Amino acid sequence: MTFSWESQPMLLHICLFLCTTGVVSRQFQLQPLNPAVLQGSDVQFRATVEGNWQIMTWDVGGLLVLTVPVDSNVTSSSRQFSAGFCSVGNSSCVEFTIHNVSRRDAGPVICAVQGDYGDKTAQLNVQESGTVNILGGNVTVDQDQQVEFQCVTTAWFPIPTVSWTQDSHAINSTLYNTSSMADGDYFNSTSVLKFQAVKNTMVECWATVAALTNPQSSSVSLVVVPKPTDWTVLIAVVVSFGGAALLVLLILGIIFCYKCRKEKQSNYQDEISRRVWTQSQISTVSAAGQANAGFEPDGQTSVAPSELTDSGFYQANGPIAHEMPDIINSDQTGNGYNSAQHTLDGTGFRKHRHVTIV
Ligand SMILES: *[C@@H]1O[C@H](CO)[C@@H](O)[C@H](O)[C@H]1NC(C)=O
Ligand SMILES: *[C@@H]1O[C@H](CO)[C@@H](O)[C@H](O)[C@H]1NC(C)=O
Ligand SMILES: *[C@@H]1O[C@H](CO)[C@@H](O)[C@H](O)[C@H]1NC(C)=O
Ligand SMILES: *[C@@H]1O[C@H](CO)[C@@H](O)[C@H](O)[C@H]1NC(C)=O
Repeated sequence: MTFSWESQPMLLHICLFLCTTGVVSRQFQLQPLNPAVLQGSDVQFRATVEGNWQIMTWDVGGLLVLTVPVDSNVTSSSRQFSAGFCSVGNSSCVEFTIHNVSRRDAGPVICAVQGDYGDKTAQLNVQESGTVNILGGNVTVDQDQQVEFQCVTTAWFPIPTVSWTQDSHAINSTLYNTSSMADGDYFNSTSVLKFQAVKNTMVECWATVAALTNPQSSSVSLVVVPKPTDWTVLIAVVVSFGGAALLVLLILGIIFCYKCRKEKQSNYQDEISRRVWTQSQISTVSAAGQANAGFEPDGQTSVAPSELTDSGFYQANGPIAHEMPDIINSDQTGNGYNSAQHTLDGTGFRKHRHVTIV
């Protein structure tokens, strides 16, 4: 039996596949390529290597700091650097750690694998979180007044992103300006927020850098004193409505009183005509010649008869009532008969007095 490649296409394909993957396995991956971490924390990198490799090296800040042989112990220049397989016994993944990162460690971190693999470079960013403070504390202003807040951030690296919120809602960035200045290896910045005070709110200034998971903040409360004019408008509205209501009530009251009085008037007239008749009868029987008990001299505060107890009515008749004595006198000179006086007062109400002289 003779062997020929032509008669074994399957073997040919397998060979081509192995040769191809052999070339691919000469590559490796480094992750992450651009990490940002806070000074003092740890940062980890992973190198994933395909195929057989022998030695891996790590450079930080231009110095070779660590060597990883695939089949023996890791050698490190310092305790700050360590490495190991991602999982026990799996040489295809190596984890490199920089402990307690400092600003000196920032820059390129290079991983190289001996042989055809070459090297990969990541950029390490070491950041610092400083302080945030809104100057001046809580603020009290009149409504609609322009209010200004200053937020100062100190000792950040790099320049922090500053933003503002009002009751947890982001404030439009057109309302504030932020400027920064370098202070040695750090940055200070000042953000000025201006807006018109409308209502009581909690104003917060936030500062952050990429490495910070929770932004830092400072908050103050804005107390807005309502405009006094708003109260005068409210009072004016209340007063005008109240006034209108009172006027309507007054008019209704007047109409009601007028109707009431008219009714009373007609009742009184009926009563009077009845009394005139009754008293005429009594008078003729009585022998004592004196003024009828039903008559009261005018000008007195005690009011009688009961039909005249409406004080307004009684007082309105004051001037006319003074004429009564004359009328009585003239009656006395006359035939001594009972008489009913009908006079008209200023308001047009008719007044009836009944006087009996015997
Ligand atoms: C500012 O206002 C807040 C809430 O109203 C209060 O808790 C805080 O004590 C105030 N701060 C100062 C300095 O008055
Ligand atoms: C911010 O304000 C500007 C100008 O007043 C406006 O054009 C813009 O739409 C606002 N942005 C947001 C997110 O409200
Ligand atoms: C921000 O600065 C610009 C230019 O200096 C200025 O025109 C603008 O009014 C400022 N805005 C605020 C909110 O201070
Ligand atoms: C930055 O802020 C600190 C603390 O407020 C201050 O001492 C320092 O002078 C500031 N630096 C600059 C450049 O303004």
